[in-house]
Amino acid sequence: MQQVTIEPNFPAWRTRARELLVSGIEPAETFWSDGFGGQSDLFPELVVKEIEPRQSNDKSPSDFRIPKAFLDLAETVSCHRDESRWGLLYRILWRIARRGERHLLGLPTDADIRKANTLAKEVRRDCHKMRAFVRFRKVAENEENGREQFVAWFEPMHHIVRYNASFFQKRFTGMDWSILTPDECAHWDGLKLQFSQGVEKSAAPTDDALEEVWRSYYQNIFNPVRLKLKAMQSEMPVKYWKNLPEATLIQDLTAGASMKQEEMIEREPLPLRAAPKNLYLRSLNEMNEVALVSEAGAEDSIPLAEMRKSAHSCRACPLWENATQTIFGEGNEAADIMLIGEQPGDEEDISGMPFVGPAGQLLEEILAEAELDREQIYLTNAVKHFKWKPGGKQRLHDKANRAEMKACRPWLLGEIARVSPRVIVTVGNTAAQSVIDPSFKITTQRGLVEWPNQIEFKGPVVATIHPSFLLRMRDRSERDKNTKLMVEELRLVRTLASKASQRVKVIY
Ligand code: URA
Ligand code: SF4
Repeated sequence: MQQVTIEPNFPAWRTRARELLVSGIEPAETFWSDGFGGQSDLFPELVVKEIEPRQSNDKSPSDFRIPKAFLDLAETVSCHRDESRWGLLYRILWRIARRGERHLLGLPTDADIRKANTLAKEVRRDCHKMRAFVRFRKVAENEENGREQFVAWFEPMHHIVRYNASFFQKRFTGMDWSILTPDECAHWDGLKLQFSQGVEKSAAPTDDALEEVWRSYYQNIFNPVRLKLKAMQSEMPVKYWKNLPEATLIQDLTAGASMKQEEMIEREPLPLRAAPKNLYLRSLNEMNEVALVSEAGAEDSIPLAEMRKSAHSCRACPLWENATQTIFGEGNEAADIMLIGEQPGDEEDISGMPFVGPAGQLLEEILAEAELDREQIYLTNAVKHFKWKPGGKQRLHDKANRAEMKACRPWLLGEIARVSPRVIVTVGNTAAQSVIDPSFKITTQRGLVEWPNQIEFKGPVVATIHPSFLLRMRDRSERDKNTKLMVEELRLVRTLASKASQRVKVIY
Protein backbone atom coordinates (compact mmCIF):
# COMPACT_ATOMS: atom_id res chain seq x y z
CA MET A 1 0.00 0.00 0.00
CA GLN A 2 1.34 3.42 -0.90
CA GLN A 3 0.40 6.45 1.10
CA VAL A 4 -0.21 9.42 -1.18
CA THR A 5 -0.51 12.65 0.73
CA ILE A 6 -1.43 15.74 -1.21
CA GLU A 7 -2.59 19.29 -0.67
CA PRO A 8 -6.37 19.31 -0.89
CA ASN A 9 -6.66 20.83 -4.35
CA PHE A 10 -7.05 19.73 -7.92
CA PRO A 11 -3.61 20.67 -9.30
CA ALA A 12 -1.97 18.72 -6.46
CA TRP A 13 -4.04 15.66 -7.22
CA ARG A 14 -3.41 15.97 -10.95
CA THR A 15 0.34 16.10 -10.51
CA ARG A 16 0.49 13.07 -8.22
CA ALA A 17 -2.06 11.11 -10.20
CA ARG A 18 -0.03 11.63 -13.35
CA GLU A 19 3.14 10.39 -11.66
CA LEU A 20 1.43 7.31 -10.30
CA LEU A 21 -0.27 6.56 -13.58
CA VAL A 22 2.97 6.81 -15.51
CA SER A 23 4.69 4.57 -12.96
CA GLY A 24 1.97 1.96 -13.28
CA ILE A 25 0.85 2.06 -9.65
CA GLU A 26 -2.52 0.34 -9.41
CA PRO A 27 -5.30 2.28 -7.68
CA ALA A 28 -5.81 -0.59 -5.23
CA GLU A 29 -2.26 -0.07 -4.03
CA THR A 30 -2.72 3.58 -3.19
CA PHE A 31 -4.17 5.26 -0.17
CA TRP A 32 -4.89 8.94 -0.69
CA SER A 33 -5.00 11.50 2.03
CA ASP A 34 -5.14 15.28 1.95
CA GLY A 35 -4.54 16.07 5.58
CA PHE A 36 -8.04 17.53 5.85
CA GLY A 37 -9.83 14.35 6.85
CA GLY A 38 -6.87 12.99 8.84
CA GLN A 39 -7.94 9.50 7.92
CA SER A 40 -4.43 8.19 7.77
CA ASP A 41 -4.51 7.92 11.57
CA LEU A 42 -7.29 5.40 11.22
CA PHE A 43 -4.94 2.93 9.62
CA PRO A 44 -1.99 2.63 12.00
CA GLU A 45 -1.03 -0.77 10.61
CA LEU A 46 -0.72 0.67 7.14
CA VAL A 47 2.75 0.26 5.76
CA VAL A 48 3.66 3.59 4.33
CA LYS A 49 6.27 3.48 1.64
CA GLU A 50 7.67 6.02 -0.72
CA ILE A 51 6.31 5.54 -4.19
CA GLU A 52 8.44 3.07 -6.06
CA PRO A 53 7.85 3.13 -9.75
CA ARG A 54 7.79 -0.26 -11.41
CA GLN A 55 10.14 -0.19 -14.32
CA SER A 56 8.26 -2.75 -16.37
CA ASN A 57 5.11 -0.72 -16.21
CA ASP A 58 6.66 2.64 -16.87
CA LYS A 59 5.21 4.69 -19.65
CA SER A 60 5.77 8.26 -20.64
CA PRO A 61 3.07 10.84 -19.82
CA SER A 62 2.38 11.30 -23.52
CA ASP A 63 1.29 7.65 -23.75
CA PHE A 64 -1.96 8.65 -22.09
CA ARG A 65 -4.66 10.74 -23.63
CA ILE A 66 -7.03 11.90 -20.95
CA PRO A 67 -10.41 13.18 -22.11
CA LYS A 68 -11.07 16.79 -21.18
CA ALA A 69 -14.48 15.75 -19.88
CA PHE A 70 -12.77 13.67 -17.25
CA LEU A 71 -10.52 16.54 -16.18
CA ASP A 72 -13.57 18.81 -15.89
CA LEU A 73 -15.40 16.23 -13.81
CA ALA A 74 -12.33 15.63 -11.67
CA GLU A 75 -11.91 19.32 -11.03
CA THR A 76 -15.48 19.58 -9.83
CA VAL A 77 -15.28 16.43 -7.70
CA SER A 78 -12.00 17.60 -6.19
CA CYS A 79 -13.88 20.44 -4.48
CA HIS A 80 -15.90 17.97 -2.42
CA ARG A 81 -15.07 17.40 1.22
CA ASP A 82 -15.29 13.62 0.94
CA GLU A 83 -11.72 12.43 1.37
CA SER A 84 -12.35 9.30 -0.65
CA ARG A 85 -12.63 11.49 -3.76
CA TRP A 86 -8.92 11.42 -4.50
CA GLY A 87 -8.76 7.64 -4.64
CA LEU A 88 -12.01 7.50 -6.59
CA LEU A 89 -10.69 9.93 -9.20
CA TYR A 90 -7.46 8.02 -9.52
CA ARG A 91 -9.39 4.78 -10.03
CA ILE A 92 -11.47 6.36 -12.79
CA LEU A 93 -8.37 7.84 -14.37
CA TRP A 94 -6.69 4.45 -14.26
CA ARG A 95 -9.65 2.72 -15.83
CA ILE A 96 -9.79 5.24 -18.67
CA ALA A 97 -6.08 5.57 -19.31
CA ARG A 98 -4.63 2.17 -18.41
CA ARG A 99 -7.53 -0.14 -18.97
CA GLY A 100 -8.78 1.62 -22.07
CA GLU A 101 -12.33 2.12 -20.84
CA ARG A 102 -12.74 5.09 -23.17
CA HIS A 103 -16.49 5.39 -22.70
CA LEU A 104 -16.48 4.93 -18.97
CA LEU A 105 -17.57 8.50 -18.28
CA GLY A 106 -20.68 8.03 -20.33
CA LEU A 107 -21.72 5.07 -18.20
CA PRO A 108 -23.81 6.61 -15.42
CA THR A 109 -24.72 3.18 -14.06
CA ASP A 110 -21.12 2.33 -13.22
CA ALA A 111 -20.52 2.52 -9.44
CA ASP A 112 -17.44 4.78 -9.72
CA ILE A 113 -19.09 7.11 -12.20
CA ARG A 114 -22.25 7.24 -10.17
CA LYS A 115 -20.29 8.20 -7.08
CA ALA A 116 -18.28 10.83 -8.99
CA ASN A 117 -21.44 12.28 -10.50
CA THR A 118 -23.07 12.45 -7.09
CA LEU A 119 -20.09 14.26 -5.61
CA ALA A 120 -19.94 16.63 -8.58
CA LYS A 121 -23.60 17.36 -8.22
CA GLU A 122 -23.23 18.17 -4.53
CA VAL A 123 -20.39 20.53 -5.38
CA ARG A 124 -22.49 22.24 -8.05
CA ARG A 125 -25.36 22.61 -5.66
CA ASP A 126 -23.06 24.23 -3.17
CA CYS A 127 -21.84 26.59 -5.88
CA HIS A 128 -25.41 27.57 -6.68
CA LYS A 129 -26.10 28.21 -3.03
CA MET A 130 -23.05 30.36 -2.74
CA ARG A 131 -24.07 32.29 -5.82
CA ALA A 132 -27.57 32.80 -4.50
CA PHE A 133 -26.82 33.58 -0.90
CA VAL A 134 -23.62 35.51 -0.79
CA ARG A 135 -24.60 38.92 0.53
CA PHE A 136 -22.23 41.73 -0.15
CA ARG A 137 -21.99 44.55 2.27
CA LYS A 138 -20.54 47.83 1.20
CA VAL A 139 -17.63 48.72 3.40
CA ALA A 140 -15.86 51.52 1.64
CA GLU A 141 -15.34 53.58 -1.44
CA ASN A 142 -11.96 54.04 -2.94
CA GLU A 143 -11.47 57.78 -3.15
CA GLU A 144 -8.89 57.56 -5.86
CA ASN A 145 -10.75 55.56 -8.42
CA GLY A 146 -14.32 55.78 -7.10
CA ARG A 147 -14.71 52.02 -6.94
CA GLU A 148 -16.93 50.71 -4.21
CA GLN A 149 -15.72 47.96 -1.97
CA PHE A 150 -17.82 45.13 -0.69
CA VAL A 151 -17.36 42.22 1.65
CA ALA A 152 -19.34 39.03 2.11
CA TRP A 153 -19.08 36.19 4.61
CA PHE A 154 -20.06 32.72 3.49
CA GLU A 155 -19.64 29.18 4.78
CA PRO A 156 -19.61 26.76 1.88
CA MET A 157 -20.07 23.04 2.43
CA HIS A 158 -17.24 22.17 0.07
CA HIS A 159 -13.95 23.67 -1.11
CA ILE A 160 -15.56 25.80 -3.78
CA VAL A 161 -14.13 29.28 -3.29
CA ARG A 162 -11.62 29.13 -6.13
CA TYR A 163 -13.85 27.09 -8.34
CA ASN A 164 -16.67 29.59 -7.97
CA ALA A 165 -14.72 32.83 -7.86
CA SER A 166 -14.71 33.58 -11.57
CA PHE A 167 -18.50 33.66 -11.48
CA PHE A 168 -18.42 36.53 -8.99
CA GLN A 169 -15.67 38.18 -10.94
CA LYS A 170 -17.83 38.21 -14.06
CA ARG A 171 -20.98 39.28 -12.26
CA PHE A 172 -19.48 41.95 -10.08
CA THR A 173 -16.65 43.20 -12.23
CA GLY A 174 -17.33 46.84 -11.57
CA MET A 175 -16.72 46.79 -7.84
CA ASP A 176 -14.05 45.57 -5.49
CA TRP A 177 -15.06 42.69 -3.27
CA SER A 178 -13.86 40.06 -0.87
CA ILE A 179 -15.67 36.86 -0.05
CA LEU A 180 -14.49 35.54 3.28
CA THR A 181 -14.95 31.89 4.17
CA PRO A 182 -13.47 29.53 6.76
CA ASP A 183 -11.37 27.67 4.16
CA GLU A 184 -10.19 30.37 1.86
CA CYS A 185 -10.99 33.96 0.93
CA ALA A 186 -11.35 35.40 -2.57
CA HIS A 187 -10.63 39.01 -3.51
CA TRP A 188 -11.30 40.99 -6.65
CA ASP A 189 -9.92 44.46 -7.26
CA GLY A 190 -10.98 45.01 -10.83
CA LEU A 191 -7.74 43.58 -12.16
CA LYS A 192 -6.98 40.30 -10.52
CA LEU A 193 -8.60 37.55 -8.56
CA GLN A 194 -6.54 36.67 -5.53
CA PHE A 195 -6.88 34.22 -2.71
CA SER A 196 -5.83 34.19 0.89
CA GLN A 197 -6.23 31.72 3.74
CA GLY A 198 -9.57 31.23 5.40
CA VAL A 199 -10.74 33.10 8.44
CA GLU A 200 -12.88 31.89 11.32
CA LYS A 201 -16.41 33.07 11.61
CA SER A 202 -15.56 34.50 14.98
CA ALA A 203 -13.10 36.67 13.11
CA ALA A 204 -15.67 38.81 11.32
CA PRO A 205 -16.50 42.20 12.89
CA THR A 206 -19.81 42.69 14.67
CA ASP A 207 -19.25 45.93 16.41
CA ASP A 208 -20.18 48.89 14.25
CA ALA A 209 -17.90 51.12 16.26
CA LEU A 210 -15.01 49.14 14.88
CA GLU A 211 -16.08 49.62 11.36
CA GLU A 212 -13.58 52.34 10.70
CA VAL A 213 -10.79 49.98 11.60
CA TRP A 214 -12.25 47.44 9.32
CA ARG A 215 -12.57 49.94 6.52
CA SER A 216 -9.06 51.15 6.73
CA TYR A 217 -7.81 47.61 6.99
CA TYR A 218 -9.88 46.66 4.02
CA GLN A 219 -8.63 49.55 1.98
CA ASN A 220 -5.09 48.61 2.76
CA ILE A 221 -5.46 44.97 2.13
CA PHE A 222 -7.14 45.72 -1.11
CA ASN A 223 -4.04 47.03 -2.62
CA PRO A 224 -3.10 44.02 -4.73
CA VAL A 225 0.57 44.67 -4.23
CA ARG A 226 0.16 44.38 -0.50
CA LEU A 227 -2.21 41.46 -0.50
CA LYS A 228 -0.37 38.47 0.81
CA LEU A 229 -1.28 35.00 1.80
CA LYS A 230 -2.33 34.92 5.43
CA ALA A 231 -2.70 38.68 5.38
CA MET A 232 -6.35 38.47 6.25
CA GLN A 233 -5.54 36.45 9.31
CA SER A 234 -2.39 38.01 10.54
CA GLU A 235 -2.93 41.72 9.98
CA MET A 236 -6.47 41.95 11.23
CA PRO A 237 -7.04 41.59 14.96
CA VAL A 238 -9.18 38.50 15.36
CA LYS A 239 -11.65 40.17 17.67
CA TYR A 240 -12.83 42.47 14.89
CA TRP A 241 -13.90 39.60 12.74
CA LYS A 242 -17.20 38.35 14.14
CA ASN A 243 -20.30 38.33 11.95
CA LEU A 244 -20.35 40.84 9.20
CA PRO A 245 -23.37 42.96 10.10
CA GLU A 246 -25.89 43.06 7.30
CA ALA A 247 -26.37 46.48 5.81
CA THR A 248 -29.91 47.76 6.16
CA LEU A 249 -30.37 47.88 2.47
CA ILE A 250 -29.47 44.24 2.17
CA GLN A 251 -31.91 43.32 4.92
CA ASP A 252 -34.65 45.01 2.97
CA LEU A 253 -33.69 43.21 -0.14
CA THR A 254 -33.43 39.81 1.49
CA ALA A 255 -37.13 40.01 2.24
CA GLY A 256 -37.46 39.14 -1.42
CA ALA A 257 -35.51 35.98 -0.87
CA SER A 258 -38.55 34.16 0.41
CA MET A 259 -40.25 34.77 -2.88
CA LYS A 260 -41.10 31.50 -4.50
CA GLN A 261 -38.76 30.32 -7.15
CA GLU A 262 -41.49 30.17 -9.74
CA GLU A 263 -42.23 33.84 -9.21
CA MET A 264 -38.58 34.60 -9.63
CA ILE A 265 -38.46 32.71 -12.86
CA GLU A 266 -41.49 34.46 -14.26
CA ARG A 267 -40.22 37.92 -13.42
CA GLU A 268 -38.44 40.09 -15.89
CA PRO A 269 -34.75 40.13 -15.07
CA LEU A 270 -33.56 43.40 -13.65
CA PRO A 271 -31.42 45.51 -15.95
CA LEU A 272 -27.90 44.24 -15.89
CA ARG A 273 -26.49 47.60 -15.02
CA ALA A 274 -28.47 47.94 -11.84
CA ALA A 275 -27.35 50.44 -9.23
CA PRO A 276 -25.16 48.90 -6.52
CA LYS A 277 -28.02 48.86 -4.06
CA ASN A 278 -29.74 46.36 -6.28
CA LEU A 279 -26.72 44.18 -6.20
CA TYR A 280 -28.00 41.42 -4.01
CA LEU A 281 -31.45 41.31 -5.49
CA ARG A 282 -29.98 41.25 -8.94
CA SER A 283 -27.72 38.44 -8.04
CA LEU A 284 -30.54 36.45 -6.48
CA ASN A 285 -32.73 36.94 -9.48
CA GLU A 286 -30.04 35.81 -11.84
CA MET A 287 -29.03 32.97 -9.58
CA ASN A 288 -32.39 31.38 -9.80
CA GLU A 289 -32.26 31.44 -13.52
CA VAL A 290 -28.76 30.11 -13.54
CA ALA A 291 -29.78 27.37 -11.13
CA LEU A 292 -32.74 26.52 -13.27
CA VAL A 293 -30.67 26.17 -16.36
CA SER A 294 -27.75 24.36 -14.87
CA GLU A 295 -29.81 22.00 -12.73
CA ALA A 296 -31.22 20.76 -15.94
CA GLY A 297 -27.74 20.75 -17.41
CA ALA A 298 -26.00 18.97 -14.56
CA GLU A 299 -23.56 16.23 -15.51
CA ASP A 300 -23.60 17.49 -19.04
CA SER A 301 -19.90 17.21 -19.69
CA ILE A 302 -20.25 14.05 -21.77
CA PRO A 303 -21.97 14.67 -25.07
CA LEU A 304 -25.21 12.87 -25.75
CA ALA A 305 -23.69 10.97 -28.66
CA GLU A 306 -21.04 9.51 -26.40
CA MET A 307 -23.62 8.58 -23.82
CA ARG A 308 -25.61 6.80 -26.47
CA LYS A 309 -22.54 4.76 -27.41
CA SER A 310 -21.92 3.83 -23.78
CA ALA A 311 -25.53 2.77 -23.29
CA HIS A 312 -25.01 0.07 -25.89
CA SER A 313 -22.93 -1.90 -23.46
CA CYS A 314 -25.10 -1.25 -20.40
CA ARG A 315 -25.58 -4.27 -18.15
CA ALA A 316 -27.11 -2.50 -15.19
CA CYS A 317 -30.18 -4.71 -15.10
CA PRO A 318 -30.96 -8.11 -16.63
CA LEU A 319 -33.09 -6.75 -19.48
CA TRP A 320 -30.21 -6.55 -21.95
CA GLU A 321 -29.84 -10.32 -21.98
CA ASN A 322 -33.00 -11.11 -23.92
CA ALA A 323 -33.07 -8.02 -26.07
CA THR A 324 -31.35 -7.31 -29.36
CA GLN A 325 -29.95 -3.90 -28.57
CA THR A 326 -30.23 -0.77 -26.44
CA ILE A 327 -32.79 1.68 -27.83
CA PHE A 328 -31.58 5.08 -26.85
CA GLY A 329 -33.56 8.29 -27.38
CA GLU A 330 -33.67 9.89 -30.82
CA GLY A 331 -34.71 13.14 -32.40
CA ASN A 332 -33.96 16.80 -31.97
CA GLU A 333 -31.24 17.03 -29.37
CA ALA A 334 -32.01 20.68 -28.68
CA ALA A 335 -35.74 20.05 -28.50
CA ASP A 336 -38.10 22.12 -26.37
CA ILE A 337 -40.17 19.00 -25.86
CA MET A 338 -39.02 15.61 -24.64
CA LEU A 339 -41.42 12.73 -24.93
CA ILE A 340 -40.85 9.73 -22.69
CA GLY A 341 -42.42 6.35 -23.34
CA GLU A 342 -42.18 3.14 -21.36
CA GLN A 343 -39.80 0.87 -23.23
CA PRO A 344 -39.08 -0.17 -26.80
CA GLY A 345 -41.35 -2.77 -28.35
CA ASP A 346 -40.66 -5.65 -30.70
CA GLU A 347 -40.10 -3.51 -33.81
CA GLU A 348 -38.01 -0.95 -31.97
CA ASP A 349 -35.85 -3.75 -30.60
CA ILE A 350 -35.08 -4.89 -34.12
CA SER A 351 -34.82 -1.53 -35.88
CA GLY A 352 -32.85 0.20 -33.12
CA MET A 353 -35.09 3.28 -32.94
CA PRO A 354 -37.83 4.31 -30.53
CA PHE A 355 -41.47 4.64 -31.56
CA VAL A 356 -41.29 3.09 -35.01
CA GLY A 357 -43.83 0.27 -34.50
CA PRO A 358 -47.63 0.54 -34.52
CA ALA A 359 -47.76 2.61 -31.32
CA GLY A 360 -45.13 4.95 -32.74
CA GLN A 361 -47.11 5.43 -35.93
CA LEU A 362 -50.28 6.26 -34.04
CA LEU A 363 -48.30 8.62 -31.85
CA GLU A 364 -47.07 10.43 -34.93
CA GLU A 365 -50.63 10.89 -36.16
CA ILE A 366 -51.78 12.25 -32.83
CA LEU A 367 -48.80 14.57 -32.66
CA ALA A 368 -49.70 15.90 -36.10
CA GLU A 369 -53.27 16.46 -34.94
CA ALA A 370 -51.86 18.57 -32.11
CA GLU A 371 -49.74 20.46 -34.67
CA LEU A 372 -46.55 18.98 -33.37
CA ASP A 373 -43.91 17.61 -35.64
CA ARG A 374 -42.04 14.49 -34.57
CA GLU A 375 -38.85 16.11 -35.86
CA GLN A 376 -39.17 18.90 -33.29
CA ILE A 377 -39.24 16.47 -30.41
CA TYR A 378 -36.73 14.28 -28.61
CA LEU A 379 -38.29 10.84 -28.14
CA THR A 380 -37.09 8.35 -25.59
CA ASN A 381 -38.17 5.71 -23.10
CA ALA A 382 -37.96 5.18 -19.34
CA VAL A 383 -36.33 1.80 -19.96
CA LYS A 384 -33.99 1.26 -22.88
CA HIS A 385 -34.25 -2.48 -23.51
CA PHE A 386 -37.26 -4.44 -24.75
CA LYS A 387 -38.74 -6.58 -21.99
CA TRP A 388 -40.82 -9.43 -23.28
CA LYS A 389 -42.26 -12.84 -22.52
CA PRO A 390 -42.83 -15.60 -25.03
CA GLY A 391 -46.33 -15.79 -26.50
CA GLY A 392 -46.40 -18.50 -29.11
CA LYS A 393 -44.36 -17.23 -32.01
CA GLN A 394 -44.49 -13.66 -30.79
CA ARG A 395 -42.56 -11.77 -28.21
CA LEU A 396 -45.11 -10.16 -25.94
CA HIS A 397 -44.52 -6.87 -24.16
CA ASP A 398 -43.87 -7.36 -20.47
CA LYS A 399 -44.09 -4.43 -18.05
CA ALA A 400 -40.78 -3.15 -16.67
CA ASN A 401 -40.62 -3.37 -12.89
CA ARG A 402 -39.44 -0.73 -10.46
CA ALA A 403 -35.92 -2.11 -10.13
CA GLU A 404 -35.49 -2.02 -13.90
CA MET A 405 -36.82 1.51 -14.14
CA LYS A 406 -34.50 2.56 -11.36
CA ALA A 407 -31.50 0.89 -12.95
CA CYS A 408 -32.23 2.64 -16.23
CA ARG A 409 -33.03 6.05 -14.77
CA PRO A 410 -29.46 7.42 -15.02
CA TRP A 411 -29.72 7.19 -18.80
CA LEU A 412 -33.00 9.06 -18.78
CA LEU A 413 -31.64 11.69 -16.41
CA GLY A 414 -28.61 12.04 -18.64
CA GLU A 415 -30.82 12.64 -21.64
CA ILE A 416 -32.94 15.19 -19.79
CA ALA A 417 -29.82 16.99 -18.62
CA ARG A 418 -28.35 17.19 -22.09
CA VAL A 419 -31.42 17.94 -24.17
CA SER A 420 -32.63 20.28 -21.42
CA PRO A 421 -36.20 20.45 -22.73
CA ARG A 422 -38.66 23.09 -21.63
CA VAL A 423 -41.51 20.61 -21.29
CA ILE A 424 -41.59 16.87 -20.72
CA VAL A 425 -44.46 14.69 -21.82
CA THR A 426 -44.82 11.17 -20.47
CA VAL A 427 -46.89 8.65 -22.39
CA GLY A 428 -48.50 5.82 -20.46
CA ASN A 429 -48.56 4.86 -16.82
CA THR A 430 -45.08 3.36 -16.55
CA ALA A 431 -43.33 6.44 -17.93
CA ALA A 432 -45.38 8.67 -15.63
CA GLN A 433 -44.46 6.53 -12.65
CA SER A 434 -40.80 6.60 -13.57
CA VAL A 435 -40.75 10.37 -14.03
CA ILE A 436 -43.43 11.75 -11.72
CA ASP A 437 -44.13 9.39 -8.84
CA PRO A 438 -44.28 5.60 -8.34
CA SER A 439 -47.87 5.94 -7.12
CA PHE A 440 -49.03 7.96 -10.13
CA LYS A 441 -52.24 6.75 -11.80
CA ILE A 442 -52.66 7.90 -15.37
CA THR A 443 -56.41 7.24 -15.45
CA THR A 444 -57.18 9.71 -12.67
CA GLN A 445 -54.18 12.03 -12.62
CA ARG A 446 -53.41 12.60 -16.29
CA GLY A 447 -52.69 16.12 -17.52
CA LEU A 448 -50.38 18.83 -16.27
CA VAL A 449 -48.05 18.04 -13.37
CA GLU A 450 -45.93 20.88 -12.04
CA TRP A 451 -43.39 19.11 -9.87
CA PRO A 452 -42.27 15.62 -10.82
CA ASN A 453 -40.79 13.84 -7.79
CA GLN A 454 -38.56 11.38 -9.56
CA ILE A 455 -36.42 13.69 -11.63
CA GLU A 456 -34.75 17.03 -11.20
CA PHE A 457 -36.68 19.10 -13.64
CA LYS A 458 -38.21 22.44 -12.90
CA GLY A 459 -40.37 22.73 -15.95
CA PRO A 460 -43.88 21.41 -16.48
CA VAL A 461 -44.59 17.74 -17.16
CA VAL A 462 -47.68 16.60 -19.00
CA ALA A 463 -48.78 13.02 -18.41
CA THR A 464 -50.80 11.52 -21.20
CA ILE A 465 -51.88 8.00 -22.13
CA HIS A 466 -49.96 5.55 -24.26
CA PRO A 467 -50.94 5.17 -27.92
CA SER A 468 -50.84 1.38 -27.51
CA PHE A 469 -53.60 1.79 -24.93
CA LEU A 470 -55.70 3.39 -27.65
CA LEU A 471 -54.79 0.58 -30.05
CA ARG A 472 -56.07 -1.98 -27.58
CA MET A 473 -59.38 -0.21 -26.95
CA ARG A 474 -62.31 -2.04 -28.46
CA ASP A 475 -65.04 0.46 -27.62
CA ARG A 476 -64.94 2.97 -30.43
CA SER A 477 -66.49 5.90 -28.60
CA GLU A 478 -64.12 5.39 -25.65
CA ARG A 479 -61.25 5.33 -28.08
CA ASP A 480 -62.35 8.53 -29.81
CA LYS A 481 -62.87 10.26 -26.50
CA ASN A 482 -59.42 9.29 -25.27
CA THR A 483 -57.76 10.16 -28.54
CA LYS A 484 -59.29 13.63 -28.35
CA LEU A 485 -58.06 14.03 -24.81
CA MET A 486 -54.58 12.99 -25.83
CA VAL A 487 -54.61 15.56 -28.64
CA GLU A 488 -55.69 18.20 -26.13
CA GLU A 489 -52.88 17.23 -23.81
CA LEU A 490 -50.33 17.46 -26.59
CA ARG A 491 -51.71 20.87 -27.58
CA LEU A 492 -51.12 21.91 -24.00
CA VAL A 493 -47.54 20.66 -24.36
CA ARG A 494 -47.11 22.83 -27.43
CA THR A 495 -48.48 25.92 -25.66
CA LEU A 496 -46.34 25.31 -22.60
CA ALA A 497 -43.23 24.93 -24.73
CA SER A 498 -43.81 28.29 -26.41
CA LYS A 499 -44.66 30.01 -23.11
CA ALA A 500 -41.64 28.61 -21.41
CA SER A 501 -39.50 30.07 -24.17
CA GLN A 502 -40.16 33.54 -22.77
CA ARG A 503 -37.96 32.69 -19.83
CA VAL A 504 -34.54 34.20 -19.87
CA LYS A 505 -31.67 31.78 -19.88
CA VAL A 506 -28.46 33.03 -18.34
CA ILE A 507 -25.49 31.49 -20.00
CA TYR A 508 -22.16 31.83 -18.31
N1 URA B 1 -43.79 2.13 -26.90
C1 URA B 1 -42.99 2.88 -26.12
O1 URA B 1 -43.31 3.25 -25.01
N2 URA B 1 -41.81 3.20 -26.62
C2 URA B 1 -41.40 2.85 -27.82
O2 URA B 1 -40.30 3.22 -28.18
C3 URA B 1 -42.26 2.09 -28.61
C4 URA B 1 -43.45 1.72 -28.13
FE1 SF4 C 1 -29.15 -0.90 -18.87
FE2 SF4 C 1 -31.57 0.12 -19.04
FE3 SF4 C 1 -30.92 -1.92 -20.56
FE4 SF4 C 1 -31.27 -2.30 -17.99
S1 SF4 C 1 -32.80 -1.65 -19.46
S2 SF4 C 1 -29.58 -3.06 -19.22
S3 SF4 C 1 -30.47 -0.39 -17.18
S4 SF4 C 1 -30.05 0.11 -20.64
